Amino acid sequence: MPLVGTKEMFKKAYEGGYAIGAFNINNMEIVQGITEAAAELKSPVILQASAGARKYAKGPYLRHLVEAALEVNDIPVALHLDHGPDFETCKACIDDGFTSVMYDGSKYDFKENIKRTQEVVAYAHEHGVVVEAELGKLAGIEDDVKVAAHEAAYTQPEEVEEFVRETGVDSLAIAIGTSHGAFKFKPEQCTRNADGVLVPPELRFDILAEIEKKIPEFPIVLHGASSVIPKYVKIINDNGGKLDDAVGIPEDQLRKAAKSAVCKINIDSDLRLAMTAVIREHFMAHPEHFDPRQYIADGRSYVKELVEHKIKDVLGSNGRADEILALVKANK
Ligand code: G3H
Ligand code: 13P
Ligand code: ZN
Repeated sequence: MPLVGTKEMFKKAYEGGYAIGAFNINNMEIVQGITEAAAELKSPVILQASAGARKYAKGPYLRHLVEAALEVNDIPVALHLDHGPDFETCKACIDDGFTSVMYDGSKYDFKENIKRTQEVVAYAHEHGVVVEAELGKLAGIEDDVKVAAHEAAYTQPEEVEEFVRETGVDSLAIAIGTSHGAFKFKPEQCTRNADGVLVPPELRFDILAEIEKKIPEFPIVLHGASSVIPKYVKIINDNGGKLDDAVGIPEDQLRKAAKSAVCKINIDSDLRLAMTAVIREHFMAHPEHFDPRQYIADGRSYVKELVEHKIKDVLGSNGRADEILALVKANK
C-alpha cells in the first residue's frame, strides 16, 4: 500500500464527523506502536516528522521506517512534515517522498506568512503534495517551536478567508487555546477539581465556529492537542520523575472538535509521556535489566495502547480506512 496524501482523508473526516490523528514519529518503536494500533482498528493515520525528528533519526531512516510499516499494514498512511520552518526543509521532504508538508510561517506577519506559504504551495502542488499552513500563534516550548505564552495569539476569523484564497493551502492550523508540550497552562490559568487536579480553561469553540463560517468545508488542524493523560504523569512522578502541574487539553473537548471542521489532531506529548512512564516503571520493577529490547518493547506497547484509545475515544476514526482507500482509488 503506497503512502497517500491527506485530501481524501480530510474529505471523509469532514463528512463523517471524525478527525485523523497526526502522531509524531522519532524512532522505530513509535512508528510500529502507532501503525499497529491503526491497522488493528482499521483507521487512517498521519505520521508526522518534525525538523528535530529528522535531525535525530538522520537521513532517510524515518521514511524507510514508514515504508516498512506500509508493507505490513493495509491502511491509508500519510507522511507529513510537522512545522516546516522554511522552504528548503519543505522542499527536502517533498523531494524525499513525503505526501504532505506543513509550512509554519506563523511567526511572520500576515503578508509575509502568505508570501512564504505561497512559495511552498507552488512547489508542493507541482509535485502532487498537499500543504498545511498556520495562522495565529500557539504557546509552547519544543525543539523547533518556541513561543512564549505572552506572544501566543488566537487566530483571527476575519483573516482566514484571504489567507486560504491567497496561499492555495490545503488545510489550516489555527490557534484556539491549545499549546505545545506537557505544560499547556499555568496553574493560575486553571481551576482545581475536587481531587485537586488542574482543570484548564475551555478551548475557544466560538472562534472555531466563526472560522468555519468564513471557510465552509475547509479542513482545520489542531496542534498542541495532547491531553497530558494524568495516568501517565502519575506513573512518571511515582517512579522518580518530576512533572509538577503538567496539564493538557481534556479529551471531551477534542472529541467535540473532531466532530466539527477539525480534520487533523496533532499528538506528540502524550506519546512521549506514555513511553517515558512505562520505561521508568520498568526500570523500577526490573533494576537488573539492561537489554534495551526489554524496556523499549514496553514503550512500544504503551504507544500502541495510547493510540488505540485516541482513535476510538477521541478521534472517532476507527473503521474508516476502507472508505478513504476507496476514494483514493476512485480519484486516481
Ligand atoms: O509541535 C512540535 C512537536 O511536538 C515536535 O516536537 O520539534 O521536539 O520534535 P520536536
Ligand atoms: P502536543 O505537544 O500537544 O502533543 O502537540 C503536538 C503538535 O502539535 C505537533 O505539531
Ligand atoms: Zn504543532
